[in-house]
Amino acid sequence: MRINLKVWRQARPDATGRLVDYTAGDVSPGMSFLEMLDVVNEGLIARGDDPIAFDSDCREGICGTCGFLVGGIPHGPDPGTTICQLHMRRFKDGDTLTLEPWRARSFPVLKDLVVDRSAFDRIIQAGGYTSINTGGAQDANAILIPKTVADKAMDSAACIGCGACVAACKNASAALFTSAKISHLSLLPQGQIERHTRVVRMVERHDAEGFGSCSNEGECEAVCPKEIPITNIARMNRDYFKAMLVKGK
Ligand code: SF4
Ligand code: FES
Repeated sequence: MRINLKVWRQARPDATGRLVDYTAGDVSPGMSFLEMLDVVNEGLIARGDDPIAFDSDCREGICGTCGFLVGGIPHGPDPGTTICQLHMRRFKDGDTLTLEPWRARSFPVLKDLVVDRSAFDRIIQAGGYTSINTGGAQDANAILIPKTVADKAMDSAACIGCGACVAACKNASAALFTSAKISHLSLLPQGQIERHTRVVRMVERHDAEGFGSCSNEGECEAVCPKEIPITNIARMNRDYFKAMLVKGK
């Protein structure tokens, strides 16, 4: 296949970016999207040009490092799929694809398709932990947790912190990410300590980082490669108001 690319090129955070045309020739349908970009980059390096910068690590859909917009859609057109797991068989010979970095004030562009997502780290630092003395390894049955609760917590913990939810949201809200990180602790007995301070600190950090408010558009859930449900946001809001009531007493 031959694929036409329009790629956002931006040399530095303070440089002016622009879309640049490239052609990816000899693309096999079995290639992953990032392998296709690797081949384009090999051609650029051979010509002495600067390769296209993009993030990746595991290339297995589990680390959350990769992510950019393909035709305006975070992680591309396949639902429940990270860009590293997207394959070229999804596209047709002669397609033109526009690749852009996440667009959000709180995720400044570092270079080309790479953005700074350290705001997510600071939200986690604000409260995404439990202060418990775990001691030695316990018997697995020492704290009984109903399977439905464990499953819900696990579903929330599946968030890989990629940032697609922010990129899809018209408010650039990180409510889905923040609520998933709060839920996977608040649903479990081990997360009850600091439950109230956690939600307040993480929501306040979210706002301080410049992310917008959630207005229930659902775009975040639609593009999330881990299909994190927006019911997490409702749980976070309930917990936040409860925490404010407790604080007010
Ligand atoms: S909620 Fe989904 S889209 Fe958002 S950071 Fe987590 S995995 Fe990525
Ligand atoms: S590179 Fe790890 S999730 Fe895509």
